[in-house]
Amino acid sequence: MTQPRIIVAGRIPDAGLDVLRPHGNVWGWKHDEPIEINELYERIAGADAVLTLLTTKIDRSFLEAAGPQLKVVSNVAVGYNNIDVAECRAHGVIATNTPGVLTDATADIAMALILMSTRRLGEGERIVRSGKPWQWGMFMLLGSAIQGRRLGIVGMGAIGQALARRARAFGMSVAYSNRRAVSPEIEAELDAERLDLDELLGTSDVVSINCPYSADTHHLIGPEQFEQMRSSAYLVNTARGPIVDEAALVRALRSGEIAGAGLDVYEHEPQLAPGLADLDNVVLIPHLGSATIETRAAMATLAARNTVAVLSGQPPLTPVT
Ligand code: DGY
Repeated sequence: MTQPRIIVAGRIPDAGLDVLRPHGNVWGWKHDEPIEINELYERIAGADAVLTLLTTKIDRSFLEAAGPQLKVVSNVAVGYNNIDVAECRAHGVIATNTPGVLTDATADIAMALILMSTRRLGEGERIVRSGKPWQWGMFMLLGSAIQGRRLGIVGMGAIGQALARRARAFGMSVAYSNRRAVSPEIEAELDAERLDLDELLGTSDVVSINCPYSADTHHLIGPEQFEQMRSSAYLVNTARGPIVDEAALVRALRSGEIAGAGLDVYEHEPQLAPGLADLDNVVLIPHLGSATIETRAAMATLAARNTVAVLSGQPPLTPVT
């Protein structure tokens, strides 16, 4: 019997490859930079399964290049806005993602950005690295305390809840906006109040974006929303860049409509909106939400287990279709 052909379209930790190897003929891209599209399409032709990174676009052209043999696309990411789910369905292809295994790592990064932006740590680091003389000063780089302040979480899924736990430990109160209320037990545990987005924006000291990206959440935060926010408030985004209108964010940061921001994701990643990098009141990090050795290994393993399940005729562990 011929072995299934499994293509790993981006470099992943060995832990994932080790799960795949006993189950098929595995070819994997070995470089950190993304595979060039023509080579990708050549490699996936006739594949039974493809593991993809969030930088791989899974659309009709991808599915046609792979051909009718393709059974499963396993995204090594929890976000799957790179996948056209309807096209996958139309082609009879199962798509999977990696929820759960990156919850803590991403919540840690959101909390780090809250601290970095409110305490002006990026500015401080730039001063020390500049080599220019400096010394302790009573009024040097004064930030804002977060104790007793309200964190407004937009999107109260697993990552939003994990962030809420961290924020509570730092003395913040928590409000959230979400399509559905979380369970009364979780609301009680986090002492979290559900608000509509307008009220959340108008009353929060820090607003954290933790919802998935979709047509419904495109530019969820734009000029009107910045107007609603307090001039002392901060915006943190560890979800997906296009949820925030980045040009409007630059204007809001420049004009003082909001006090600051911390971003892990960008609207046209890896490009930044003009002017963003010139602003001191924004912390910018390069999409590091899940970037721990342990988390990336767990993501690769879960994606591989999804692939193996489908190839063995079992239901996938974490399907999105
Ligand atoms: C995800 O998984 O969606 C993160 O953005 C990257 O790990």
